Amino acid sequence: MPDSNGEIRAAPMEEAGPESRAGQVCRIRLRSGETFPVARNSLLLGSALAQGVNYPHSCRVGTCGRCKTRLVSGRISPRIDFALSPLTNQELKDGYILACQAKVRTDLEIDVKLIVHDVILPRMIAGRITGWERLPGDVIDLRVTLEESLHFAAGQYAALAISGSFVRRSFSFSDAPDPEAPACEVGFLVKHLPDGQFSDWLAREDRRGVPIWLEGPFGQMGLDDEPRDALCVAGGTGLAPVLAIAADRVRRFPGNRVTIIFGVRRAERLFALDRLQALVDMAPDRVRVIPVVSDEPAQTAWSGARGRVTDLLDSDLGIDFSEVSVFACGAPPMVAEVERRLLSLGVSADRFHADKFEPSGA
Ligand code: FES
Repeated sequence: MPDSNGEIRAAPMEEAGPESRAGQVCRIRLRSGETFPVARNSLLLGSALAQGVNYPHSCRVGTCGRCKTRLVSGRISPRIDFALSPLTNQELKDGYILACQAKVRTDLEIDVKLIVHDVILPRMIAGRITGWERLPGDVIDLRVTLEESLHFAAGQYAALAISGSFVRRSFSFSDAPDPEAPACEVGFLVKHLPDGQFSDWLAREDRRGVPIWLEGPFGQMGLDDEPRDALCVAGGTGLAPVLAIAADRVRRFPGNRVTIIFGVRRAERLFALDRLQALVDMAPDRVRVIPVVSDEPAQTAWSGARGRVTDLLDSDLGIDFSEVSVFACGAPPMVAEVERRLLSLGVSADRFHADKFEPSGA
């Protein structure tokens, strides 16, 4: 729990070296014995990623809980109130912190399970908007051509910033990476939020030709490398990472099936149906797409599924829930509901991967 300085400390801080105690560099020691240095007052997760440490993370803004870490010894300053974060009361009592929101104050000993995949170090790359198309549902299909090519994994995201502005927003890549070559052009699906500084600017007019900065890749949602059937549940522009993950898995795991449940409010707001059809065409016997609308008036011509995405999650799907890998992307309440439902149906928590899309307003 935070002390009167707002800091969280764990256990006696033993044997901080004179250099690290007096200086600006703190030493982070993992329970496994590995160590890495971090500049004092910098964020634990950001510093670890910048050095290529395979630290678990996704959102980097304190909402997903993927970076949770047990603080064994040392002091950090939380940037947000951890009591209002995804950490449970028990985890708070047990000394867990969120590494993405923890400023390092001293040497630390921490307990966190690093991921085993290679981490692609994020980079800042200049680019230009070369594709801009308005889709149904107030969504912009945005394409950016980069001055340098970029490696990323399906399910990852990047931060975009308008050149010369401080406005910066994160969006998931909507294409599967090419295994043969890094990408020079990347795509995103951006929902227009009237009070969203980036999306409102983007949606006002065709922005092709405008310079833009990209920083990334970030996140690890799609890094589930086991050849298993996949169930992808997307709400709104949560479809972007799902398109990438589904295409990537169809290509890499030829013996496995992918089911995509894509929810929006009204049938007229369904978008990117051509891209979903292209996925089905890649492997018609292995890819299934189920659009579902939650607020469609009864008298319309819509003949597909109605209700919430969770209404479709049952044994009628014909999925072995004890075996499937799940990727859920969309608004946090939807993702939380999907998680509750699927865990109760027998999905393993280890195979439930989520990306929660928090709208960023003005
Ligand atoms: S809560 Fe830290 S990465 Fe999401």
